[in-house]
Amino acid sequence: MDLHTPDLAPINFQDIIVERPVERVGLIRLNRPQALNALRSQLMEELINALQSFDHEATIGAIVITGNDKAFSAGADITEMANATLTDMLNRGMIERWRQLRNIRKPLIAAVSGHCLGGGCELAIACDIIVASETAKFGQPEINIGVIPGAGGTQRLTKAVGKSLAMEIVLNDRRLTAEEALRYGLASRIAPLDQYLTDAISLAAQIAARAPLGVQMGKEAINKSFEMSLADGMSYEEKLFYILFASEDQKEGMRAFVEKRKPVWRGQ
Ligand code: HXC
Repeated sequence: MDLHTPDLAPINFQDIIVERPVERVGLIRLNRPQALNALRSQLMEELINALQSFDHEATIGAIVITGNDKAFSAGADITEMANATLTDMLNRGMIERWRQLRNIRKPLIAAVSGHCLGGGCELAIACDIIVASETAKFGQPEINIGVIPGAGGTQRLTKAVGKSLAMEIVLNDRRLTAEEALRYGLASRIAPLDQYLTDAISLAAQIAARAPLGVQMGKEAINKSFEMSLADGMSYEEKLFYILFASEDQKEGMRAFVEKRKPVWRGQ
């Protein structure tokens, strides 16, 4: 796969790089290598902006977020928070911004290598799929600086790895290797260092080539399973299933099956 196609997005970001490596895939690279991609406010603001604009672009079907080989991200920017008071933190609405991540409708794939810590780990877990390099290391080391995770590290992580392991990670800074992340279902695949990003982009391209509304509703239904009882979740899934019968893509998909041809998706 050629990852060197020209960058078509306006280049007005400082902390991220936005690219379109292949058709229908948006790629966002966290780009503060000197600070191991620490998530300062500016970076988070740019990230949310870029995600929202890809989410609104009809030509994009899936989005990959990555860092670099050494670090996906070492977490929230500690220097930015070090002197903050409670009132500062409340007024800044630092984690408020993260809620907007949940509203992105297109699939988000985190391509993770190296340090994936604190808020960085929470960002990866907030994505829908994690593709890890063999060197990826996941952890929530906030306890070392006197706090706890603030954007899902005690919630989403616990749902992924279970209570006992989550306790070790949050209370005692246990780090997970890529192999462990795969075993516990945090990541769905591991690739060699020179391959993980290409694999993530290729996975994104495959998903982006599928029925867009189906992909969007599948993502929504799966994510609801973390928030609802089984009965409510089943009912939610059922409604989304029925809703898809109002789409042209459902007609096209089923007709194409019957006619033994490939469907042409229109996202309508
Ligand atoms: C600000 C950071 C940073 C961070 C690293 N740097 N992590 N700056 N915030 N989270 C900076 C270092 O200060 C240093 O800058 C440069 O990046 C390289 O880091 P080193 O420590 O020199 O690298 P190394 O020795 O390889 O150690 C890597 C590391 C360590 C193990 C990842 O940097 C580390 O422990 N970082 C902190 C990890 C952490 O505690 N994360 C949780 C943050 S709280 P200089 O200028 O000295 O070269 C959090 C809360 C989330 O995430 C709440 C919800 C959003």
